[in-house]
Formats: sequence, structure tokens, C-alpha cells
Amino acid sequence: MLRSRIVGIGSHAPKRVLTNHDLEKIVETNDEWITSRSGIKERRIAGEDESTSDLAKVATEKALEMAGLKAADVELIVLGTASPDMPLPATACHLQRKIGAKKAAAFDVTAGCSGFVYALSVADKFVKTGAVKNALVVGVEILSKFTNWKDRSTCILFGDGAGTVVLKGEEQPEGKKAKGIFSTHLHSDGDGWDLICIPGGGTVAPQSARVLAENMQYIRMQGKETFKVAVKGLSEVAVEALEANGFTKDEVDHVVAHQANSRIINAVADRLGLPSEKVHVNIDRYGNTSSASIPITLDEAVQAGKVKDGDVILMTAFGAGLTWASALARW
Ligand SMILES: CC(C)(COP(=O)(O)OP(=O)(O)OC[C@H]1O[C@@H](n2cnc3c(N)ncnc32)[C@H](O)[C@@H]1OP(=O)(O)O)[C@@H](O)C(=O)NCCC(=O)NCCS
Repeated sequence: MLRSRIVGIGSHAPKRVLTNHDLEKIVETNDEWITSRSGIKERRIAGEDESTSDLAKVATEKALEMAGLKAADVELIVLGTASPDMPLPATACHLQRKIGAKKAAAFDVTAGCSGFVYALSVADKFVKTGAVKNALVVGVEILSKFTNWKDRSTCILFGDGAGTVVLKGEEQPEGKKAKGIFSTHLHSDGDGWDLICIPGGGTVAPQSARVLAENMQYIRMQGKETFKVAVKGLSEVAVEALEANGFTKDEVDHVVAHQANSRIINAVADRLGLPSEKVHVNIDRYGNTSSASIPITLDEAVQAGKVKDGDVILMTAFGAGLTWASALARW
């Protein structure tokens, strides 16, 4: 049976570090509040001349190197982002040009912070049906450029970064011993669109003096309400992935959850009954990097030698849309 295997992974974050103490000088907040409410200590911020596809390029070149794949041989690029280089064309096409992936089809997927798992799900279908031999799945954001730096309820949360995995089609046995992606599970609920949104700059409210005056070009979030639905969505879709493949929680070696808030991650681990050693957390150093958080977190675990051949990885994400999504894979 043809399955998608993750054969390469890479991540990248911009150099500039913005600490909670730096934020104390910008808005009325403090390190203690941010740390206790979110688990975040610092985040990375892209430079003025750095674009989303620039961050993606660095992460992608590392992933290609690990996979031993040349950019010229890449057949598909699916890129999850909510902070594209520009409204048109797709950031995936900018990345395709910058890495020289001449043969590749390239398009973006927008699913808020679930963008990476949505993109993974799409690319997995192409690979496991044999439509392409390989694919790049990218999660990348520069949300700092869509952040209202006067709004303390959102500007403390987000950070910039990128992560890429290389998928390759490989014949694998049927059943639980197989390596590669077992399944992905996607959900949405547009009724919750206004819990997290950037209301201006699209067709509802095209760029205008009013949009700028009312700060509609920036992220808005209803934090408390989002918190509750995020815990529920992340947990339920994780259980769905286990049940769909006949896995118990004890068979999971690594949980890589979207890094939105350490309290959310802990609540999800509790609901799933999984010990904290299996749950990877790096939100203290990156903040919420939205689509990039899962591939950055997984890459750090891989680079640290924590992910061993044959380990079972459960990914779970939640974001604007609302969207929530999971993936179960054996490394
Ligand atoms: C944003 C979040 C950290 C806020 O934590 P919270 O415990 O819900 O805090 P609240 O928003 O209720 O605010 C509590 C108080 O702190 C204040 N506050 C808000 N931001 C603050 C900040 N940066 N510094 C200090 N005080 C702050 C509020 O004004 C409020 O004061 P009040 O009680 O006098 O009105 C939390 O709601 C969260 O993480 N939500 C989910 C975010 C998320 O996951 N988003 C992306 C999904 S992909």
C-alpha cells in the first residue's frame, strides 16, 4: 500500500528575539502576566525586509537536504499560511521560484493555525494516490506584520517562523506497523469566524482609510472564548485520529500540538490522559507561530534525537475559521 512518509524536516525562525520584558516597554503588560497566562517568554520577529516566503525558503532547504531531494525534483508544494507575501499570487509560488522547484505545482492553504495540518492532509492525498512522487508541506507565518502592537491582548501571543516537511510515496504494509501517515482529520465551523480574524483588506472591507483608522488590517481575537473551543477541538480531533486507526493513547510516543498557549496544551494532555514527557512544548521560545508551530516543534524534537525510527506521532491543531485538524503518523 502506497503511503506518504516524512523523509525530511527543517525549520527556521528570524534572528530578532522579542522578550516579555521588551513588550513591557511597548504596552501595559508584564512578564509575570504573560508567562502565567500563556507560557510565552519570548518570540521571534521578522525583519522589515523579510517576507513569509523568505522564512519558508530557509526551512525548506534544510528539509530538502535531510531528504536528499533536489528542489528541481519536487513535484508539489502545499503551503499553509495566514500571513502571505501578498494577496496574489500564492506564497507557495514565491517559494517555488526562490528554491528553483521548476517542476512543482504550488498553492496555498488558509486554515488559520491549522494551516500546516490542512496542507499535510492535501499533500498526503496527492502522494498516497500516486499523483505525485513527493511533496513539500510548509507551515509559515509572519503574523508580526498583521499584529496591532497597541493591543496587549493579542500582541503578546504571536511569533514568526517556518517549518517544512518533505513527503515521499513509499510502499508500506497494511495495518498499524506501517510507517508514514495513517490518516488526517479536518473540521471547520464558520459560525466562529469572528473569534479570530483579520476583518479588513478583503472584499468585505477593502483597504481604505477607514480600514486603517479602525485597525481592521490587524488580527482580532476573543481570547477567552477561543481558549475553550480550542481545548475541545484539539482533544476531540486527536481522539478521532487514534480511534480511526485503532491506536490507544499508550501507543503514542509524541504529541505535537499547535502551540497557542501552554495552558491549552496542558489541558489537552490531561483530557487525552497523556504524560507531559510525550507532549512537546516550545511556546516559551516562539510564542504562537500559527501554521508554523507544529513543523517547528516536530523539527526541534527530531533534531534533538527524541523522535526514533518507528515512533508514533500525533499532531493536533486548532485555529481561525474556526478549523481544527489532526494527523497520525509513524516516523
Ligand atoms: C489570550 C489569553 C492568554 C488571555 O488569557 P485570559 O486568562 O483569558 O485573560 P483575559 O483575556 O480574560 O484577561 C484577563 C485580564 O487581563 C487583562 N489583560 C489582557 N491582556 C493583558 C496583557 N497582555 N497584560 C496584562 N493584562 C492583560 C485583561 O484586560 C483582563 O483584565 P480585566 O479582568 O480587568 O478585564 C488566553 O485567553 C488565550 O490564550 N486564549 C486562546 C488564544 C489562542 O489560542 N489563540 C489562537 C488560537 S489558534
